[in-house]
Amino acid sequence: MPDISDPQWLQLADAARRASANAHCPYSRFRVGAAVLTGDGGIAAGCNVENASYGLTVCAERSAVTRAVADGARSIEAVVVYTPTAEPVTPCGACRQVIAEFGRDARIRCICDGPGVLEFCAADLLPSAFPKSGSEL
Ligand code: THU
Repeated sequence: MPDISDPQWLQLADAARRASANAHCPYSRFRVGAAVLTGDGGIAAGCNVENASYGLTVCAERSAVTRAVADGARSIEAVVVYTPTAEPVTPCGACRQVIAEFGRDARIRCICDGPGVLEFCAADLLPSAFPKSGSEL
């Protein structure tokens, strides 16, 4: 598992909180922010972007991963997800699969407005993932 320093976790948490303010969520009114630490040490943030055709909504985690990849990243070491809730909320299944594509061992931290913090390894959130490794396809 990647070793993430305390200042890096703080930077990620700050970026995720700030990104949540940009959420486009007129339907759920649930603002989510996410920030990913890439293999080259960069940070990319994202927020949920909803759509009038509800199923087209993009979660904050996928928005952050997409942005990191567009910036040139090819691996992800850590993800922080922020929700404006009393308890931390974990990434949905689709986001778990997308995170695993770039960071099977990525560390995932879920933070909120309360004191609770949840932390996982991407592989623990998506056991027996498809595919076992990129080379199998
Ligand atoms: N949402 C995320 O951004 N991340 C998740 O992991 C789960 C849900 C968003 C999607 C939608 O805009 C809102 O939260 C309510 O589901």
